[in-house]
Amino acid sequence: MGASAKRIRLGIEIIAGCSSSGPGTNRLTFTPEYWAAVDYVADQMAALGYERKTTSHGNTRFRKRDADWGEPAVAVGSHLDAVPHGGRFDGVAGVVAGVEIARSLDDLGVRLGRPYELIVFAEEEGARFGSVLAGSKALVGRLTYRELAQMKDANGTSYLEALGEKGEHASTAPGDVLGARDVASYFELHIEQSLVLEAAHVPIGIVQAIVGLRQYRVTYSGVADHAGATPMGLRRDSLAAAAQAIAAVEGLAGDSATGVTVGTVGMLVNEPNAANVIPARTVFSVDLRDTDAATLDEIGEGVLERIQRIAEERRVDARVTLTAESASVVLSSRLRDALIRSAERQGIDYLEMPSGAAHDAQEIARVTDAAMIFVPSIGGRSHCPEEDTPYEAIALGVDVLLGAIQTASERAD
Ligand code: HGY
Ligand code: MN
Ligand code: MN
Repeated sequence: MGASAKRIRLGIEIIAGCSSSGPGTNRLTFTPEYWAAVDYVADQMAALGYERKTTSHGNTRFRKRDADWGEPAVAVGSHLDAVPHGGRFDGVAGVVAGVEIARSLDDLGVRLGRPYELIVFAEEEGARFGSVLAGSKALVGRLTYRELAQMKDANGTSYLEALGEKGEHASTAPGDVLGARDVASYFELHIEQSLVLEAAHVPIGIVQAIVGLRQYRVTYSGVADHAGATPMGLRRDSLAAAAQAIAAVEGLAGDSATGVTVGTVGMLVNEPNAANVIPARTVFSVDLRDTDAATLDEIGEGVLERIQRIAEERRVDARVTLTAESASVVLSSRLRDALIRSAERQGIDYLEMPSGAAHDAQEIARVTDAAMIFVPSIGGRSHCPEEDTPYEAIALGVDVLLGAIQTASERAD
């Protein structure tokens, strides 16, 4: 249909410049670099006649200035926050695609049956405040204002304090919750973040279901002591306990019945972290995922039980906090059909597939129809500076998305 790979490339490269120093992309929610990226998108949308609303949970919504905010929209969304040392495409591809859709609608003179909305969700990665999908969860009412006030970053700044620092007064009331009356259909374009599309030489993925996830924060507290003078049998070593727990996470996930369970320990802090001191306190994350809810429950319980048992055997104290959970979702068949018909009308090959990554779409799917379209990740790499996707592939995804949006916004009533 004519989405412009050149414009998409420009948008992604400009947003890539909104990053603090360090390898790859470093753009934590509500930091100056985050707002620089949001402001760039807002400028692009303003030039197309769209106004910006910052919700009380820190998400940013765009509709045409003359649009009726009371009308259920057809929306496109994703996120601009990144994991530390992340890539240039995760989340950004979907937001830039949303801008390109707005531009294409104008260029092609397309009149949709519903208002078009672009949503930029805050804190999708959970990299600053420790809870993935926090912005979209709050937007659909699954995280309260009070919980947002209690979520702190490494410096002790809360989610709401960080949002307030921008000085921009949220233009929606606290607790404004999004529902089907606001968004009738939601689409998200995202990089695939694995190897399936590239290996199959297929340009488009149409997502059937998104994985469920549980994230925990575990603290083992032992006793600091002299590394040389303390006999092995007298130690209460928190890092040795964590090492055993980390191996257990990998073993239990790897042995699961579904064969698709994944378990990751990605964050670890060890104190006092000195070569000649027996570790006294070790904090680490546990990330468990599966598309099957019963398996996720079973593996989750197995991991928690093992964490406690290791604590008893090693006489360390264990504290476990659930920091995020999101149920697996099957995405809207109505909207997936719209994507399929759009790809077929344009003679674009596609593959129906699950998503092993979590996405804001799985929270929006709890309140309205939601669907996702994947574009290939070169080498399957993501959450790293090597993350890469051809701009032409994103343009193709926008073309498929544009066709689906037109179908989805036809009014039945
Ligand atoms: O963790 C995830 O799957 C996503 O990148 N936040
Ligand atoms: Mn993402
Ligand atoms: Mn991500």
